[in-house]
Amino acid sequence: MTTSLNIDKKLSLKTIKAPIDVELKTFEVKFRESMQSKVALLDRITRYIVKRKGKQVRPMFVFLSAKLCGGTTDATYDAASLVELLHTATLVHDDVVDDSLERRGFFSINALWKNKIAVLAGDYLLSQGLLLALDKDRFRLLKIVSTAVREMSEGELLQIEKARRLDIDEAVYYEIIRKKTASLIAAACCAGAASTTDNEVYIEAMRDFGEKIGIAFQIRDDLFDLGDDEIGKPKGIDIKEKKMTLPLIYALNQSDKKVRRKIINLIKNKSTEPDSVAEVIEFVRNSGGIPYAKEAMYRYRKEAFEILHTFPDGAVRDSLEQLVTFVTERTK
Ligand code: IPE
Ligand code: IPE
Ligand code: MG
Ligand code: MG
Repeated sequence: MTTSLNIDKKLSLKTIKAPIDVELKTFEVKFRESMQSKVALLDRITRYIVKRKGKQVRPMFVFLSAKLCGGTTDATYDAASLVELLHTATLVHDDVVDDSLERRGFFSINALWKNKIAVLAGDYLLSQGLLLALDKDRFRLLKIVSTAVREMSEGELLQIEKARRLDIDEAVYYEIIRKKTASLIAAACCAGAASTTDNEVYIEAMRDFGEKIGIAFQIRDDLFDLGDDEIGKPKGIDIKEKKMTLPLIYALNQSDKKVRRKIINLIKNKSTEPDSVAEVIEFVRNSGGIPYAKEAMYRYRKEAFEILHTFPDGAVRDSLEQLVTFVTERTK
C-alpha cells in the first residue's frame, strides 16, 4: 500500500532545487533569451509566456540527471532550454487542440490571440528550440529531442482518433500517455545524462527512469481533471474533449452494460453540456476509478525509484527522488 505524503509544494520544490540552484538561475536567463524575436507580436507573446512560467520540472530533470551522471556542462544548459522550449510549444498547441482557454492560472495564448496566432507562435518556439541545438552542432541532443517531439504528435493524434471512436482500453491509454507526455520527460533525463557522459548504460537507464515518471506524471494530471483542486487550468475538459483517461476506463469496465451504455452516450453526444460532464465525473468518483489510477501511478513511481537506486546514493539522487515524489503528490 502507498500513502500520500501531503508535502508542502513550495517548500519541497525549493528543497529539491537546492543542489541545482546556481544552474537554474543561469538557465532562466538563457531560456528567456532563446525566445526573443524581432517581430513585435511574437515578442509580446513570448514575454507573456515567460512571465507566467510553469513549474519547470523538465529543466530540473535535465540538470539533476546530468549531475547524477557526472556534472553539468555547457551542453546541459542547451538541453534544458531545448526541452522547456519544446514543452512550451506543445502546450501552446495543446490548448488549441483542446480548445482550452486557461493555462497556468491565466488566459491561454489561443484565448488571447486566437488559434491562428497560437499555432504560429508554437511553431516559432519549436523551431527556436531545434535551432538552438543545431547552432552548436549538438546532433545527439537534437536526435533525442526530435524523437520525443515526433512521439508527442503521434500521441496527441492517437488520442484524437480514440476520442472519435471511444474504444480505448488500458493498453491504448498507456500508449497515448507514454507518447504524448512520457517521451519528453524521458528525453529530458536522457539528454541530461548524454550532456555529460558517453556511458550508454547510464544514458539508457535515465531514459527509462524518465519514461516511468512521465507516465506517473500524466496519470496525476488526468486525476486533476476529475478533482476539486484549483490547478490553473480548466477541469472536466478531458471529458468535454471525449478523452478517456484511466479512472474512466476502469469505471466503465466495472459497470454493467446498461450503465456503461448510458455513460458512453453522455460522452458521445452530450459532452459539451456541463451537467453531463458533472454526471460522468460523479460516476467515475463513485466507481473507485480514482484510487485505482493512483495505485497505477504509484506502481510507475516505484519502478522509477528502482532504476534510480542503481545509481550511487547522494544529495543529487535524493533530490531526484524528491522530485519524483513531488510529481506524484503535486497539487497543480
Ligand atoms: C502540463 O505539463 C502538460 C502535461 C504533460 C500534463 P506541466 O504540468 O509540467 O506544465 P507547466 O509547465 O508546469 O505549466
Ligand atoms: C498533455 O495532455 C498535453 C501534452 C503533452 C502537450 P493534456 O491535454 O491533459 O495536458 P493539459 O491538461 O492541457 O496540461
Ligand atoms: Mg490539454
Ligand atoms: Mg490534462
